[in-house]
Amino acid sequence: MKSPSILVLATGGTIAGAADSATRHDYRPGQIGIEEFLERVEELGIEARLTGKQIANIGSEDITPAIWHDLHTCASAALADPECSGVVITHGTDTVEETAFLLDLTLPTTKPVVLVGAMRPITAVGYDGLRNFANAVRVVSDPEAAGRGVLVVMGDRVFAARDVRKSRTRGTDAFSGFPRDAVGLVTPSALDWFGAPWRVAGEARSPFRTDLPDVPVLFVHAAMTPDYVDRLVTRETRGVVVCGVGEGNMPEPVRKRLVELARKGLRVVRSTRLAEGLVDREPEDDENGFVAGRALGPAKARILLQMLIANGITDPGEIQTAFDKP
Ligand code: SIN
Repeated sequence: MKSPSILVLATGGTIAGAADSATRHDYRPGQIGIEEFLERVEELGIEARLTGKQIANIGSEDITPAIWHDLHTCASAALADPECSGVVITHGTDTVEETAFLLDLTLPTTKPVVLVGAMRPITAVGYDGLRNFANAVRVVSDPEAAGRGVLVVMGDRVFAARDVRKSRTRGTDAFSGFPRDAVGLVTPSALDWFGAPWRVAGEARSPFRTDLPDVPVLFVHAAMTPDYVDRLVTRETRGVVVCGVGEGNMPEPVRKRLVELARKGLRVVRSTRLAEGLVDREPEDDENGFVAGRALGPAKARILLQMLIANGITDPGEIQTAFDKP
């Protein structure tokens, strides 16, 4: 049998990071290039044809729409090639859930696309990058990976882009998922899926756009006053994601200010600052002109709202429908 042909797009992060010592806590992400990384991978004897391309070499806190554009362009071209089995993207773990979700929304494919990172740099004792990478290749090589959207592989677990979030600052088991936890378990030699594929049609959910509008996140806390809203919302702002307390709640004066702005066309999505849980529609959302973020946390809610507005979808009802989709 022909071994799978996989494009590896590198963006940096800890998986390509290095420090001056094996035990120091501080290190620099994005220190080695894709060629050197793939030389190290070669020693693992993985049975796949890997072609590397460097898209960026940064810490993922510095990811930009321009980098998303390059990832989208390269991944789309590769996936359209019948010879290509799928794409692996190496990425910093801090914002990997955002890039994964954005690509999940916008890539028209059923072929596997897997984002992978590491929690420890190459020079550290117990570097997890090569194992995570071998696992990612294992996932992309599996015919059963088709139709599962964009995936994130970390710590021997496979997560769907819509569910995944980084939930711990340290440790190799730093990721979890909501509402689904892992959708599969993986090692370099074994892979088990929990359930059937869910994205069997190959259409993108949204056209890709780089001209994303200004959509800040409003972090709600005790004793918050409406002037926090006024400091955040500028003339260019098209939407706000409320990172609310509990089930997307906010102090009454803040709500009133946002209702005034929603009536002038600002799109307001209520999400939660809690790590997990649904934010459902409340009867007042109709009157307020608000949207309930459902299972999406604020970072992903922001990306979805930006994509919708950029594509001309500004009706709160239509926005709600997009948030309701699993
Ligand atoms: C980053 O996100 O680039 C740094 C942290 C990491 O990759 O774990």
